[in-house]
Amino acid sequence: MSTLKAIRGTRDLLPPETALWNRIEATARSVFARYNFGEIRTPVFEDTALFARGVGEETDIVSKEMYTWEDRARAQSEKTQTLTLRPENTAGVVRAYIEHQLGESGQLQKLYYIGPQFRRERPQKGRYRQFSQIGAEVIGPVSAGSESPLRDAEVLEMLATLLDELGISGWTLQLNSVGSSADRERYNQALREALVPLAPQMCVDCQRRAVTNPLRVLDCKVPADQPIIETLPRIADSLDADSVAHFAAVTAALDAAGVPYTRNHRLVRGLDYYTRTTFEFTHGGLGAQNALLGGGRYDGLSEMIGGPRAPGIGFAMGEDRLVLTLLALEDAAAQVKVDAYIAPLGENMNAAALNLARELRHVGLHIELGDGSFRLKKSFEAADKTARCIVILGEDEVKSGILTVKTFATGIQTKVARAELAAFLSE
Ligand code: HAM
Repeated sequence: MSTLKAIRGTRDLLPPETALWNRIEATARSVFARYNFGEIRTPVFEDTALFARGVGEETDIVSKEMYTWEDRARAQSEKTQTLTLRPENTAGVVRAYIEHQLGESGQLQKLYYIGPQFRRERPQKGRYRQFSQIGAEVIGPVSAGSESPLRDAEVLEMLATLLDELGISGWTLQLNSVGSSADRERYNQALREALVPLAPQMCVDCQRRAVTNPLRVLDCKVPADQPIIETLPRIADSLDADSVAHFAAVTAALDAAGVPYTRNHRLVRGLDYYTRTTFEFTHGGLGAQNALLGGGRYDGLSEMIGGPRAPGIGFAMGEDRLVLTLLALEDAAAQVKVDAYIAPLGENMNAAALNLARELRHVGLHIELGDGSFRLKKSFEAADKTARCIVILGEDEVKSGILTVKTFATGIQTKVARAELAAFLSE
């Protein structure tokens, strides 16, 4: 029988690397709390129409990457539905905002999420079919200030803080504005016209996009198309006075906060809901899939999926890519060792060893428990791999209440009274 394996593009996360995932999530939660964000958890699958309408039919995500299936009715009262594993979480958050009438509070909703997303992409380093995002959204009625450029700047400043606290140095913030939907319409028209004589020389995807959704031409990665794309009109030239002023206010606030950025005129992002500010944080260490995170403003998304006017801005970080970056920057996962390994000398010491382990674990120490059937050499080898110290527990130790502790980093062996052991190991 052939052995079963994890599906292509999915993977198992194992210790010690999972400790790094937990540390990233704990840091994110702590930063989000300081900026007054609360956690939202939405379902992993939704009505396919949510993504078709929210993310956009013409995007790569919706047109070719979604895991979609017909969910057959189980009873006459149910109808057969077309469902999709979420490829991203913003549409789900806005759906929940509408469904629970969160705008009725009159307050800005500041929501974060951590969880798996699914896209049938071609797997490679940093790109998986199941991946995890850590994201956040700020959304609310206009009267709550949801359109203010200050919100954009605050989100970007929070991201700079979060990346710094994670220990990710050397990131670049790429920033652009895609304007209002009217600006985008104007720009689309300008692009469409400019592309008429150029598209026939471009890749087949661009030939199609030039007709259906010219903005997507800017995402093209085909090398031969790049010089042509450079000659196309820039979106900055299609922005109206309000969009220009909004973007200027975002950059002025970033300048005041000392958050560095570069303007990238081609950053239009791969989802259709964006308006005005768009951004990505990239990192050189990641290779081809260099976007640590992406996001932007989506002032019309709520209306696109049948809700009230509710401008918003948010981002999602690729957690898998944060892990890859940290692993490249330091030997981040290797450092997790427990405080002590308890080695019972003989099987008749096992019960006493369990009791000692219990005592130490109760005061918060991280303890690995060996087995009295192991020879001392084997205990030492196992302890050296997993723990900072080894504690030997034989009959003499139990009688005298004095334990032998060896610290691996220094090689020093010490006698420690049992009552002082917890304090000794905590040092
Ligand atoms: P996105 O740019 O599609 O935006 O994804 C955000 C981040 O998720 C990417 O920068 C990348 O780090 C990670 N990511 C995307 N696809 C994969 C993949 N196949 N494997 C590994 N990591 C991946 C969004 O999803 C928007 N919802 C972000 C947003 C929130 N905009 C406003 N609010």
